[in-house]
Amino acid sequence: MSDSPIGIFDSGVGGLSVLRDIAALMLSENLLYLADQANVPYGHRPLEEVRGFSEGITRFLLAKKAKLVVVACHTASGAALYSLRESFPGVPFVGIEPAVKPAALGSRVKAIGVLATPATFEGPLFARVVEQFAKDVRLVGRTCPGLVEIIEAGEVNGERIRRYLEGVLHPLLEEGIDALVLGCTHYPFALETIREIVGPGVAIVDPCPGVARQVKRVLEERGLSGSGEGAGERRYFTSGASEGLEKALRLLLCQEAPVGRVRWLDGELEEV
Ligand code: DGL
Repeated sequence: MSDSPIGIFDSGVGGLSVLRDIAALMLSENLLYLADQANVPYGHRPLEEVRGFSEGITRFLLAKKAKLVVVACHTASGAALYSLRESFPGVPFVGIEPAVKPAALGSRVKAIGVLATPATFEGPLFARVVEQFAKDVRLVGRTCPGLVEIIEAGEVNGERIRRYLEGVLHPLLEEGIDALVLGCTHYPFALETIREIVGPGVAIVDPCPGVARQVKRVLEERGLSGSGEGAGERRYFTSGASEGLEKALRLLLCQEAPVGRVRWLDGELEEV
């Protein structure tokens, strides 16, 4: 048993979609969330740079006594999950990979779409899932430049995001796909609009609930589950502006919560 928090991080608000599912499954666990909004978006950065951010954030979360670290970001998982496990032996990490497997297995027409960042498409996790599970399907990948920024602004409904997503999704529909992988943790916040555009004939695969189940399994296996009852404590930090993340929490999670500020100094995060 451990009442230390589960540490969760992302470049920005995307990992909140994972936090939401973890909180729904394990209400009494304490959660500690770090948004690296000074550096968002990660998706067009070199993998090496994202690896550096991920290591600095992990050191910060561990200094705050995190008992497990969730890399709630496809881009950071692709760039850094293997090296984090090597650099921090003994620390349980749960990462996230593009959900190509369930999409490929479920596709009747054997054609699937994947929305992800350029860095995710370049990373080793994507190459591995394609090699293992998508050999017999046609995979149509699309990066979505600018979409992370729209969601960071809390615009998950409305005309701007609808027009943007129609521009991405209509050509994918013309390719004849019947399954769509949300390969970036920001995108589940736009699920409703995506569903309206693609219609009922396309299965949308959101990996976040699976990540939450994996976190629960790892905690149980290691005897690290929390012992508390009632809702656990949620703490939020950002390397960007506190008010920005506070607003996003209100818009995306309907939650009022104070946000602490951190800043980068020589590759380390310190509280301001
Ligand atoms: N939420 C992210 C992901 O899952 C990061 C997107 C970005 O910062 O570009 O890939």
